[in-house]
Amino acid sequence: MTDITESAPEISLPRAKGMFEAFVTDNKKIGHSFYKLKLTLSGEGAHAFANCIPGQFAELDVSEVPLPPEENIPEDLLDVSQREVLLRRPFSFTDVTVHGDKTVVDIMYCVLGPATLRLTTLKSGDSFSILGPLGNGFHVPEGKKYAILIAGGMGTPPLQHLGKLLVTNHLEIEVTAFAGAKSKNDLPIDGRLDEISIQLGFPIPEFARYGIESIIATDDGSLGYKGFVTDCFVEWLKEKELPAQETIIYSCGPEKMLSRVAQIAQERNIECQVSMERRMACGINLCQGCAVECKVPNSNETIYKMCCQDGPVFDGAEVIFVN
Ligand SMILES: Cc1cc2nc3c(=O)[nH]c(=O)nc-3n(C[C@H](O)[C@H](O)[C@H](O)COP(=O)(O)OP(=O)(O)OC[C@H]3O[C@@H](n4cnc5c(N)ncnc54)[C@H](O)[C@@H]3O)c2cc1C
Ligand code: FES
Repeated sequence: MTDITESAPEISLPRAKGMFEAFVTDNKKIGHSFYKLKLTLSGEGAHAFANCIPGQFAELDVSEVPLPPEENIPEDLLDVSQREVLLRRPFSFTDVTVHGDKTVVDIMYCVLGPATLRLTTLKSGDSFSILGPLGNGFHVPEGKKYAILIAGGMGTPPLQHLGKLLVTNHLEIEVTAFAGAKSKNDLPIDGRLDEISIQLGFPIPEFARYGIESIIATDDGSLGYKGFVTDCFVEWLKEKELPAQETIIYSCGPEKMLSRVAQIAQERNIECQVSMERRMACGINLCQGCAVECKVPNSNETIYKMCCQDGPVFDGAEVIFVN
């Protein structure tokens, strides 16, 4: 029988990346258009992914995975569903756990187009090729006592992973999570409150299970604070008066939101790391298609860094945001 003792990896240098076969162990729908996918890797793949840093990602090849039957494809995706999926697609992880000689990688995905539609048809025992772990991931600087995680839309997955490792490996850091979306159906969280969330009064089970306080904001007010998650965060920050030097902000979500988060952080001298999104054709610094314009320190010049290799996590103060 497989050893199912779970261990939380330290944030440490990852093993070499590679291309591996990943086996599906679960794939279930949560909420409106989100799924949780569980992948198991063995052998070299298990070693490579065992020490993933939160914010790193993998490129999934779903070119051989079939589409769902037409009646199961949402009407607004019928046209795009017919596009071939020639390129791998990037996904970060909500969790990575080691179980004996296997590594289990949890992914949460939103169904948006041909690749993610294909992902919905995967069932236990299916397998496909995964390339990773890729990119740099978030890091935890010395001397921090407060970490604030700010997720917008589909930005929660890597922050869930980071939240878990912060509460496991950095007991000195108090973590608070914010999640914002247009409406409650756009929040990539399991709508059902589990026992822990109810007991703690924290609304996001994905964070409550690690004892992390969470705050929800929706643009239309259908759940939590009514308005942008960044406005909600500013109000919260005013009340808390956290010492800037001891605080760090980690954020993932739409670029417009990241831009505002970076601005809020800079105005208050708070360190801030943002996970950027780009279309990623190769994921390994070959196609040069995922450029992020960055400031050169102490100069007016800018350079282009590759989101797949130099990122996806950047210092919020260095990025020239497009939105
Ligand atoms: C580092 C990284 C981590 C990611 N992690 C996750 C994750 O954990 N969960 C998740 O659901 N998604 C994640 N994504 C986004 C995911 O890769 C895309 O949603 C997926 O590629 C869509 O594929 P598709 O063929 O279904 O849709 P497509 O037809 O390829 O895209 C559907 C729509 O989404 C837009 N889009 C697709 N990819 C991107 C992108 N990278 N940046 C901006 N817009 C895009 C397209 O322009 C289009 O409008 C991540 C992206 C990056 C770069
Ligand atoms: S995705 Fe090809 S260089 Fe980054």
